[in-house]
Amino acid sequence: MEKREGDNCTIDLNTAQSIKPRRNTGNLSNLNMDMQVTSTPEAAALFSLHQAHHFGEFECSSEQHCKQDLFPKWHLPMKIASVISFLMFIYTSLRDVIYPFITRKENAFYKIPILIINKVLPVVSITLLALVYLPGILAAGFQLYSGTKYKRFPQWLDRWMLSRKQFGLLSFFFATMHACYSLCYPMRRSYRYKLMNWAFQQIKQKKENAWIEHDVWRMEIYVSLGIVGLALLTLLAIASIPSVSHSLTWREFHYIQSKMGYLALLLCTVHALVFAWNKWVDVNQFIWPV
Ligand code: HEM
Repeated sequence: MEKREGDNCTIDLNTAQSIKPRRNTGNLSNLNMDMQVTSTPEAAALFSLHQAHHFGEFECSSEQHCKQDLFPKWHLPMKIASVISFLMFIYTSLRDVIYPFITRKENAFYKIPILIINKVLPVVSITLLALVYLPGILAAGFQLYSGTKYKRFPQWLDRWMLSRKQFGLLSFFFATMHACYSLCYPMRRSYRYKLMNWAFQQIKQKKENAWIEHDVWRMEIYVSLGIVGLALLTLLAIASIPSVSHSLTWREFHYIQSKMGYLALLLCTVHALVFAWNKWVDVNQFIWPV
């Protein structure tokens, strides 16, 4: 018999090992297992079972436990986020790195770690945010089409509706990263060199003032909208924490998640539109294959 001793307690491990832990162990947690007082083999076995019951939940206590899916509700949002990120990365790299390299032999590979990534992040974020609210509209359309609200939604729509929270949280995650990347723009060495080069060009052209009024306004507005948009997304994320959402009434929760959510989506869209300004109608933006 193998024995473990310590703190006045002796546990019979053989007895303990012969008992397989099960999830439904009754009211074991209420048993008084003060090992300083008792050390019979039965009590030791029960103690071991009690421990296995508690810690086994976090380990793989049975085969069934091991087979459980990890984060099942996150699968769909994660897959969609990965596909959009990948496509957006390829598109932006082709546009901003490969195209100048092939056509003008310009080395713009330095853009990949920050500038390219910071094009991918906001696009993925805003797309995921739109995907939070799209299924609600599709579901309303479905109900209107079928003339009743008691008909079951198709399975794909059901699955989508059930993972809206995860879509929203992922969107928030990407938006936060986008904000961090954006705010570090002026810290980059490449930016400082560019700034010096612009200043030099300006001196060469004998220009005293480089101020462009509409560009100044454009940036002030879109950064401000981005900050407000991110603040609203933060509130939405906080309101989705179970302890917070449980403290709200259904009306309050619905108000925050729908009204504020739509407002956040609107602000972020206007943020992107103001950033783009008149690029939508500028033919020079529509370059070679992309
Ligand atoms: C503190 C908050 C934010 C700041 C400081 C910020 C800043 C910026 C900056 C500097 C750009 C231009 C990026 C570039 O030069 O390529 C940009 C673009 C963009 N931002 Fe934000 N942003 C913020 C929040 C958000 C949020 C919450 C969203 C949406 C979820 C968002 C979506 C976008 C989009 C879609 C673009 C256009 C990307 C492109 O097509 O190049 N931003 N933002």
